[in-house]
Amino acid sequence: MEKVSRKTKLLHWVSVIFIGLAYLFIELRVLFEKGTLQREVFKNIHYGLGFFILVLSIVRLIEKRKSESNYTNQSIDINRRKLMNRTHQGFLFWFCVMAILGLLQILPSWGLPELPYPQLIKSTHQRMGQIGYFLIAMHTSLVFYHHFWLKDDVLKRYL
Ligand code: HEM
Ligand code: HEM
Repeated sequence: MEKVSRKTKLLHWVSVIFIGLAYLFIELRVLFEKGTLQREVFKNIHYGLGFFILVLSIVRLIEKRKSESNYTNQSIDINRRKLMNRTHQGFLFWFCVMAILGLLQILPSWGLPELPYPQLIKSTHQRMGQIGYFLIAMHTSLVFYHHFWLKDDVLKRYL
């Protein structure tokens, strides 16, 4: 079995941790009243993590373009491999768009003018975040399906 490169593994698992933490901090902000320092700290940690997720996702999209064969399991047939690649690119693109929509919301706090339709940007970020939970659950379930049901090396290559 050929494992993916160390860099690929690192990028994947660091992204998983950062995305998990970004969700955790924004969800836990509700523990504190609006306007409190703690709530602002939690939101700011979310923004910082979100920004790193954007950088990591762009790096991964570039890396994937450079070397497709490093990523996809060569024992899987070519058509399914192509589908997996497209899906994974879409997955990374999803988080890029989310992070950009997040950044657009905080432009005024950097002294930049607010964009038109701020409510639409906010609700799209919120809705994409909800769908993001579903996408992550799908991805994880499929990986476990491969590992425990098909008993192939899809997960082992990434560990
Ligand atoms: C791709 C990474 C990101 C994910 C998965 C994500 C996810 C979320 C989620 C789930 C919410 C809660 C929505 C709700 O139910 O109210 C949220 C809110 C928010 N996010 Fe993000 N976000 C990301 C990146 C960012 C970035 C980079 C920024 C800004 C720098 C940002 C700014 C915001 C803001 C301003 C809110 C609303 C907070 C509030 O009004 O209380 N997000 N995000
Ligand atoms: C925040 C959640 C996650 C995101 C955003 C994510 C994203 C991705 C992406 C974009 C790929 C394509 C290859 C790459 O860029 O490295 C990938 C592959 C993979 N992920 Fe995840 N992942 C997440 C969670 C998980 C979890 C929890 C597991 C383990 C149960 C997992 C296991 C794998 C495996 C085994 C592959 C390789 C699939 C193949 O052979 O093509 N991922 N993931």
